[in-house]
Amino acid sequence: MNLPHQVKLVEVGPRDGLQNEKQTVPAAVKIELVNRLQAAGLKEIEVTSFVSPKWVPQMADNAEVMAGITRLPGVRYSVLTPNLKGFEAALLSQPDEIVVFGAASEAFSQKNINCSIAESIERFAPVVAAARAAGISVRGAMSCTVGCPYEGDIAPERVGRLARLMKEIGVQRVDVADTIGVGTPLKVQRAIEATQAHFDLDHISGHFHDTYGQALSNTLAALQMGVWNFQSSVAGLGGCPYAKGATGNVATEDVVYLLHGMGIETGVDLDKLIDAGQFISDFLQRPTHSRVAKALFTKRTAS
Ligand code: HMG
Ligand code: MG
Repeated sequence: MNLPHQVKLVEVGPRDGLQNEKQTVPAAVKIELVNRLQAAGLKEIEVTSFVSPKWVPQMADNAEVMAGITRLPGVRYSVLTPNLKGFEAALLSQPDEIVVFGAASEAFSQKNINCSIAESIERFAPVVAAARAAGISVRGAMSCTVGCPYEGDIAPERVGRLARLMKEIGVQRVDVADTIGVGTPLKVQRAIEATQAHFDLDHISGHFHDTYGQALSNTLAALQMGVWNFQSSVAGLGGCPYAKGATGNVATEDVVYLLHGMGIETGVDLDKLIDAGQFISDFLQRPTHSRVAKALFTKRTAS
């Protein structure tokens, strides 16, 4: 076991969490959510995406949200940019980090960004170069690293190949994503191992959706390898519009509880985080998906 002493969480609720919502979530609500998340101590927040509004209407207010948040020193604000058009639009909002997003599965690449894996890398290369020239950090999200909704199981070699391609174009760190939450601990570890051929552990993060209830186990499996960067979504919000049936990411509250219980520091105030989760759950008129938030909320109201 190679457990880290501290973990850095990238909160993806405002982006991955809300991108799939059918009801309109006003920019003001997204802004308030981001402000509450950073008040809870989160130091990295994935705020929005600069993608086609025809493909993902919920993210059409990207510039308005970026302009409305209160930027705190020491907090990194990231946005998704699939191509140069998205990057150029994002640049006006001055993100600290941009995210190019590819897939280990050909079919998912086509469904999600309308091109093959090879074409996606060709599109990302000038985006990565332009971002780095502008002093903006670059992360690469790797979708479907254990399973694909269209192709089924994904071999670790395909993850390794995508990680190599991302490295070659100058991506600085990558997310090993289980987009549809089908992974189990050993499969996730194989995907991370394949990524380690090209990125060291400091530059690999885990991004686990919880569709099959495996995301916390997968988080623990990654922690045991020494991974110390994870993405999670407050209240377990979300899912990808191009991965039907996939539910949200592992809830940030649940990950924080797991980590604090293991003596691993996150810098996050769990009570404030639960309030942020309650805020967005109230707006969506849905109970939170976080088991920890439910339990602690019940305890709070009982006392
Ligand atoms: P396309 O149709 O092939 O693009 O879409 P195109 O270049 O042919 O352009 C078509 C139209 O879109 C044009 O407009 C462009 O101007 C416009 P029209 O002339 O028809 O009016 N367009 C744009 N508009 C705004 N921003 C842009 C942009 N680019 C083109 N950046 C494209 C290709 C990539 C744009 C499209 O497929 C797309 O937007 N896909 C988004 C998919 C998405 O956001 N998925 C969810 C995020 S990924 C995810 O959730 C997974 C992750 O969480 C990790 C995991 O869990 O696996 C990260
Ligand atoms: Mg995701």
